[in-house]
Amino acid sequence: MENIRLLIVDDEDDFRWFIAKRLTKMGIVTEQAEDGEKALSILEKKPMDVVVLDVKMPGMNGIEVLHHIKKKYLKTEVILLTGHATTQDGVEGIKSGAFDYLGKPIELEHLLGKINHAYQKIQREEEKLREAEFRAKMEQQMIATERLASLGTLAAGVAHEINNPLAIIKEAVGWMKLLLRREELTKMPRRQDFEMGLDKIEKGIERTRRITHQLLGFVRKTDSVLAEVNLNELVDEAVQLVNMEVANKEIEIVREIDTSLGTIWSDPYQLRQVLVNLLTNAIYATGSGGKITIILEAIGEEVALTVRDTGEGIPKENLERMFEPFFSTKPPGEGTGLGLFVTRSIVEKLGGKIELESQLGQGASFSIKLPKYHEIKEGLDKNNHVDLLDKITKYNRLPH
Ligand SMILES: Nc1ncnc2c1ncn2[C@@H]1O[C@H](COP(=O)(O)OP(=O)(O)OP(=O)(O)O)[C@@H](O)[C@H]1O
Ligand SMILES: [Mg+2]
Repeated sequence: MENIRLLIVDDEDDFRWFIAKRLTKMGIVTEQAEDGEKALSILEKKPMDVVVLDVKMPGMNGIEVLHHIKKKYLKTEVILLTGHATTQDGVEGIKSGAFDYLGKPIELEHLLGKINHAYQKIQREEEKLREAEFRAKMEQQMIATERLASLGTLAAGVAHEINNPLAIIKEAVGWMKLLLRREELTKMPRRQDFEMGLDKIEKGIERTRRITHQLLGFVRKTDSVLAEVNLNELVDEAVQLVNMEVANKEIEIVREIDTSLGTIWSDPYQLRQVLVNLLTNAIYATGSGGKITIILEAIGEEVALTVRDTGEGIPKENLERMFEPFFSTKPPGEGTGLGLFVTRSIVEKLGGKIELESQLGQGASFSIKLPKYHEIKEGLDKNNHVDLLDKITKYNRLPH
């Protein structure tokens, strides 16, 4: 009870002082008011848990004060001190929301017991409130996670469906381009306009293809695999994939590899997608002559993979939005804004975490922590080892 905020309201000074003194000895600090107005002005400045309130006071009487308190301070409990002869005030007080009442002259033990009960009630209610808040927060988080998961599934479904018509369109465009080059069509009116139109279609196809590839790489539920991955080799491979861009911009790639790292069990195809996404972002952000550092470290049961660049960095207001789907600062038509969204989704699916540090003008650093042994949870019956064996694969490196 030592932390209780207690206010004693009574016009009898001796009585107030007597109670306050006894409570102080027990380590409970009290506030005092000699009338209703004073009590309300104290409450305005400082919230109280329990108010011990005399009913018979000159000016505003206790019942009126109680009405004010119950209207304005919903969490405050009131214990009324009523006249000895009748319980009428007490009953009326309870109807108006008082916690309890005591007839004067009071026994201190009695009063203390009631204060204690009132305080316990407040604490129970606070606990209930905290629980409700916690539950609401968890529910919100779950809704967000589920929304993300269903968004992923939906996106992958759409991506898959789009791929076939996309291939048909691409083929048809190629065929039309060939036709246009034929002898009999060289003199076709506005042939160049047609060619330009076809080029535009091809660009559109290319962009759509990038979107579907990102999404399909991410949600490969049916064929997510588990393999022994040599991260060092995977880094080599990813660097090779982006080599052209690196060379064009004369960017230096530095590797800091912990030689004690060994291999990890994870999904190499998806990890490769992660690495390529991070590297292409870093290359894009880095000016010519810049540097990209790739760090691999073993930390206990985890491995940490960091891609750090000396590029333009990320403005503070964008930091929060980096992993949102379709967030991109690239010129219209250039970026899908899916790279980091997919990257984070993959890392989390593989049981890891991704963190980002950056300051505008000072480069960016993306750091991924992955477990050395990742269990594939989805679609896997724990008792069915055949299922697990199905998932274990040998990783085939890309042909050079
Ligand atoms: N290393 C980095 N340095 C600075 N900004 C970055 C870096 N990586 C990502 N960003 C910012 O985050 C945005 C989103 O990145 P994300 O990879 O998701 O999409 P994108 O790169 O714009 O598109 P895409 O990946 O399809 O090319 C980028 O547009 C860029 O503004
Ligand atoms: Mg990107």
